[in-house]
Amino acid sequence: MFRSLIALASVFAMMVSKLSFSQGVPDSIALYNENCAVCHGANFEGAPQGVPLLGDLRYGDSMADIVNSISSGNQRAGMPAWQDSLSHAQIRNVALYILESRANVSYRDFNHKQPLEIPEGIVETELHNFRIETVATGLDALPFSITALPDGRLLVTEKKYGVRIIGPDGAVSNHIEGTPRAYADISMVTLNGLGNERGLGWLFDIAPHPDYGNNGWIYLLHGDRCEDCNALSRRAESAVSMNRLVRGRIADGRWVDEEVIWQADLEHYGTMIDVAAGGRIAFDNNGHLYFSVGMKGRNNFLGIQDLSTPWGKIHRVNYDGSIPAENPYAGRDDVYQSIYTIGHRSPQGLEYDHQNGELWGTEHGPRGGDEVNHLIPAANYGWPLYSLGMNYNGSPVDFGERLGIAYELSDIQQPVVDLTPSPAVSSFVISESDQFPQWRGNFLVGSLKARSLYRLKIENNRLVERETLLEGLARIRDIEQDANGNIFLLLEHSEGARVVRLVAEGSE
Ligand code: HEC
Repeated sequence: MFRSLIALASVFAMMVSKLSFSQGVPDSIALYNENCAVCHGANFEGAPQGVPLLGDLRYGDSMADIVNSISSGNQRAGMPAWQDSLSHAQIRNVALYILESRANVSYRDFNHKQPLEIPEGIVETELHNFRIETVATGLDALPFSITALPDGRLLVTEKKYGVRIIGPDGAVSNHIEGTPRAYADISMVTLNGLGNERGLGWLFDIAPHPDYGNNGWIYLLHGDRCEDCNALSRRAESAVSMNRLVRGRIADGRWVDEEVIWQADLEHYGTMIDVAAGGRIAFDNNGHLYFSVGMKGRNNFLGIQDLSTPWGKIHRVNYDGSIPAENPYAGRDDVYQSIYTIGHRSPQGLEYDHQNGELWGTEHGPRGGDEVNHLIPAANYGWPLYSLGMNYNGSPVDFGERLGIAYELSDIQQPVVDLTPSPAVSSFVISESDQFPQWRGNFLVGSLKARSLYRLKIENNRLVERETLLEGLARIRDIEQDANGNIFLLLEHSEGARVVRLVAEGSE
């Protein structure tokens, strides 16, 4: 019975992805080869009639710059203007292909199997030098979250297995008994050369209560899964799932005192896989807790703009799960009163900036359009109406007409940082570390596909500095800092995940 669900869900997912995946890349490659390679070279190396498109670009290397170079050309220098012969979407496609090639981010390969290349010596960066020290190895290949407890231990979730404790000496405990169940019936589906995890009922973020020292509460967000529990599960004869937030305590290796903090209406549980389920938690200074629910609807676009569904949203509740009176939709009927922001596609990171009192999130765009967002109550982040990225078939993101939703571009909150081409941005921290004083307030942002760690300096909602601190390290699934200013990275890998720590050069 469960098999048939996976089959059904993946057939549907495949139909959707197939439609979208089959044309995008080949189209932009074909466009380039037919129209541009003669002057710029098949591999962007340049040719007698044109310039190389690798290295420094004379007219700028942002998406907007390149689109402009292609559209307007420079007739006198021998670069045709393409705005009349190619559509705007085609020009953006080719531009994206150039950018992806320049950044070496093929999005046909998610780099699960690349060898882990952890630098042994000192890593030199603009403001701080550091070493990378391995804290723990031997974790399952697909972890999701790490968090530091005040006593120096780390908690880690393995998506399909459970919660473990990493001791100060790096010893990894067995799975904590009694946590919400995690489901391991995951499969890697290879679609048009792309490897993608598929599963339902994973463990996501774990985080101690801000006053953990006194109350021992630990919050855990997970994909709650059930069978024969709503109309869809009965019709499809399959399991369904939805993010659910609980808290409990850990005593003698067991999860105890569990309380449900937030749960969706069972009718909203669905068959959509957990890859884009979001699943991060953040606490603010005022007794609130935020969490993300990504695309867990019926497909990639239905209901995300709708206040009566829980998915495609960032939610906010009080620590005990009650609704804060100042929530944007508090007291309204027929909506999820926990909704804080809407229009999210695949939220990856969620952090509260305790210094400035602001909530921030990262999320995956489709092809291009990875985002760093300042999350403002009741704001709409645009999916699936609008994105700076493109659908995988090369068309612009614009499901508004299909959904019967009219909107103005000014209704949509634009990202503070647009990461195009997509490095597959993941989790981040806003650094408060004393070990890296010059990074204080900066965003340390991980990535999956690009396997890199970035430092972003954001001032007044503008990106003012971007540095790649580590390149090609590993798929970085999570980043955390502890009270001593240690910065931990959770590295995903097919041969076993590991936790590493950045050690400032000069500190112990
Ligand atoms: C007939 C030759 C020719 C063709 C065809 C051509 N280009 Fe160019 N392109 C050039 C030349 C020459 C320049 C340098 C122009 C200048 O220096 O002002 C250039 C410049 C550019 C630049 C700006 C480079 C920089 O350093 O900022 C981009 C981007 C670019 N071309 C993209 C394309 C794309 C995409 C296509 C196909 C759709 C294309 N070109 C087709 C000759 C060509």
